[in-house]
Amino acid sequence: MATTFTAQQQFIDEFDPKVYLQTYHMAQSGILSGDFQEFAIKNLYETFIKGGVRGNTLLDIGTGSAIYHLLSACEVFDKIIVSDLLDQNRVEFEKWLKKDPDAFDWSHIIKYVCELEGNRGDSEEKKAEKLRSKVKEYLKCDALKRNPFDPVVVPPVDCLLSCLCLETPCKDLKSYCEVLKNFMDLIKPGGHLLILSGLNATFYHVGDKRISVLSSKKENLEMAFKGAGYQIEKAVFTPRVDKTMMHVADYEGGVRGDTLLDVGTGASIYHLVSAAEVFDKIIVSGLLPENRAEFQKWLKKDSDAFDWTHIIKYACELEGKGEDYDKKAEKLRSKVKEVLKCVTFINETLSTLSLCPQWIVFCLPSPLKLHIEKAVYTTRVDKSHVDISDYDTKYFISARMPQILRSQSPPRIEGVTTSTTSTTQNEKDFKSP
Ligand SMILES: C[S@@+](CC[C@H](N)C(=O)[O-])C[C@H]1O[C@@H](n2cnc3c(N)ncnc32)[C@H](O)[C@@H]1O
Repeated sequence: MATTFTAQQQFIDEFDPKVYLQTYHMAQSGILSGDFQEFAIKNLYETFIKGGVRGNTLLDIGTGSAIYHLLSACEVFDKIIVSDLLDQNRVEFEKWLKKDPDAFDWSHIIKYVCELEGNRGDSEEKKAEKLRSKVKEYLKCDALKRNPFDPVVVPPVDCLLSCLCLETPCKDLKSYCEVLKNFMDLIKPGGHLLILSGLNATFYHVGDKRISVLSSKKENLEMAFKGAGYQIEKAVFTPRVDKTMMHVADYEGGVRGDTLLDVGTGASIYHLVSAAEVFDKIIVSGLLPENRAEFQKWLKKDSDAFDWTHIIKYACELEGKGEDYDKKAEKLRSKVKEVLKCVTFINETLSTLSLCPQWIVFCLPSPLKLHIEKAVYTTRVDKSHVDISDYDTKYFISARMPQILRSQSPPRIEGVTTSTTSTTQNEKDFKSP
């Protein structure tokens, strides 16, 4: 499901800090409690303890009710100012400050940071106390405002930190750039801006509330920081490891959107099962009426339809959803909006036709330089049916269109696919399974 932008008032009304903490930061089960927190904490430790980013004041924007990102900082700053848009987050954060029995338990994170910093045992309580003593203010803040703390004026600080925040309020890249520019007035000359977040996200859930996020890409981020006038000292990117909870928060998600067009669907569905999770609409297409009719049988649950249960079960297991496979099949059925006839042809004027014997390959006019994001090739393992189909390597390529407007792109030939056999020959020989 594509996510429409979450308006600020709706966000204010719906965000529940307790649910957020449980979903994302809870020991063991929290979505961020594995590789994300490890990445965040190690990078912050290296930056503050080893990297020499230190000074009088650190200002954190969009703190929410979290403390994990401040534990190393409190060793090297005299004063920490935390801030957020939401009053309910301040209330929750203050519970931790005041050691309220109802406060969130951060002890697993504190222990981890202490170990990383080389302190063990009874130093964990000391660490928590140190952070408590350094947090001097929790300010109301709207990162989108020219002065986020209006009417309070915060004198420029040595370091401005913001974790998992800016993609929520910023509607587009322009607004993200604007925010970074405004932040410059909050940082001393020579001071640091540290931003920690996830790439390619489109949403995250807090309970049943779905919150939209600006989908940031590496190249856009670099452009935004440089455009705002910063000099990038360090940028670290690490792929998300645990993708079991992509349906709750989809950062590092990659390919998703409103519509997926599948060219040459045939009568198969295996390749669309995961796509149904991240597209609103799927259009399938194929050359042969027999294939389209066979696909329709599956859509209509015809008793004669091919049985894809084993594949759907496998996808359910892989996605770790515990969703039963009937639901999954229904989801795919509901997303397939059209089964189109797709006539493909070879256009002799194309200069980069790459025809492989016995393969159908996708070609685009040569001036369109596609950026290949991923290309995986794996040798065929089971060769027992090589007399039926003699491919020797499987491949999967993910390529991205250049970020230019359609109208600026070179003339496009719609739906061009090529095959080594002619269309009529193909149509005559092929029988749907
Ligand atoms: C995903 S939470 C991250 C909280 C915390 N920094 C963490 O790493 O767990 C996003 C935070 O951004 C805050 N936020 C959203 N819009 C904001 C705005 N316009 N100004 C300041 N904070 C905002 C939210 O209230 C929330 O606490």
